[in-house]
Amino acid sequence: MQSSFAVDPYSPAVAALAKQVYRGFQWSKNYFGLAHKTLSTRLLSLAMPPIDSKSKPLPPELLAWIQQQFDQLIETDWQDAERGVYPTSLLFDNPWDDFFRFYPVIWFDLPEMWQRANQKRYHEFADGIQTSDYPSYYLQNFHHQTDGYLSDTSANLYDLQVEILFGGTADPMRRRILGPLKQELKATALAPHQLKILDLACGTGRTLKQLRATFSQAALCGTDLSPTYLRKANQSLSQNPGELPQLLQANAEALPYLDNYFHAVSSVFLFHELPAEARQNVINQAFRVLQPGGVFVICDSVQAIDSPQLAPMMENFTAIFHEPYYRHYVTDDLNLRLTEAGFAKLETQTHFMSKYWVARKPGSI
Ligand SMILES: C[S@@+](CC[C@H](N)C(=O)[O-])C[C@H]1O[C@@H](n2cnc3c(N)ncnc32)[C@H](O)[C@@H]1O
Repeated sequence: MQSSFAVDPYSPAVAALAKQVYRGFQWSKNYFGLAHKTLSTRLLSLAMPPIDSKSKPLPPELLAWIQQQFDQLIETDWQDAERGVYPTSLLFDNPWDDFFRFYPVIWFDLPEMWQRANQKRYHEFADGIQTSDYPSYYLQNFHHQTDGYLSDTSANLYDLQVEILFGGTADPMRRRILGPLKQELKATALAPHQLKILDLACGTGRTLKQLRATFSQAALCGTDLSPTYLRKANQSLSQNPGELPQLLQANAEALPYLDNYFHAVSSVFLFHELPAEARQNVINQAFRVLQPGGVFVICDSVQAIDSPQLAPMMENFTAIFHEPYYRHYVTDDLNLRLTEAGFAKLETQTHFMSKYWVARKPGSI
């Protein structure tokens, strides 16, 4: 006999409770990020010369608008899970082991980062890090990151640092590629196990993890220039059920794949870190490796044209973080670049601090 206390996981009451837990948790991540940034800036300013960043305070109406966009992102994320784009469990995927192991390391790393930022040292790598064979634009301490993208420590801290920077919204923003991908791929009538999907500049594998949860039978590939980020991705993805994505060290400007191979290509938070010419090269490569009828989805920062009210924030981002290509990126016409590469049926969306391009290679799968 069934207990009268049994909980139906699909009941509206349980769903409503889960939604409140999710919202509450996202808000607490937001406050945690804010508290971390405020406290660390105050403490470091006491002990070391302040960073001359020329950042400007944000007007209260902009802060209110940002809060509303934050809420909207969380709502959309919940609704996409509820309508089955991806499992609800993804919303609660938090790498706690990493948090407890590496959050203290973030604090130890801060004085060194602060000093590098203050002294405008942007190209520093620890002895022993191999820096040959990388494009020169890549050999930077992007966002003052110790060792750029080229050490295990950097790979271990990256996800946490991004979570703090975006107040816990990095994963919800990444997940916004999943709806368009699923919709475009459904139209192809391919069986789930036939799908081949590539994530460009996969970093530590957060997007691949979301892709695996959404396309459980697809063949997944991920490429990145950083050997240490790929190692981290491998560690994290190998804890997942399902087939392990194939990871390959490669420049997204020269992909080691056959023409017309993949059904979908994704790229998350890469384009703002590329000079203009490299952006075009990556788009051309995505076009080349996609099958006719295949879909390319880009997620990156919002741009000036869509979100003029965010101009002070974009200025601050350039001033505070070392992001040498961001200023050009926010005015770059990626639609034009996509069209020049041959893509058709372009769509764009924005969610919170991110913009999305969904482009289709002409033809049919
Ligand atoms: C801001 S991180 C984004 C990583 C990941 N997609 C995410 O969502 O967190 C940028 C990534 O792009 C990689 N990258 C930068 N330029 C690249 C290039 N030309 N080819 C391949 N990877 C590149 C870096 O190694 C890094 O992992």
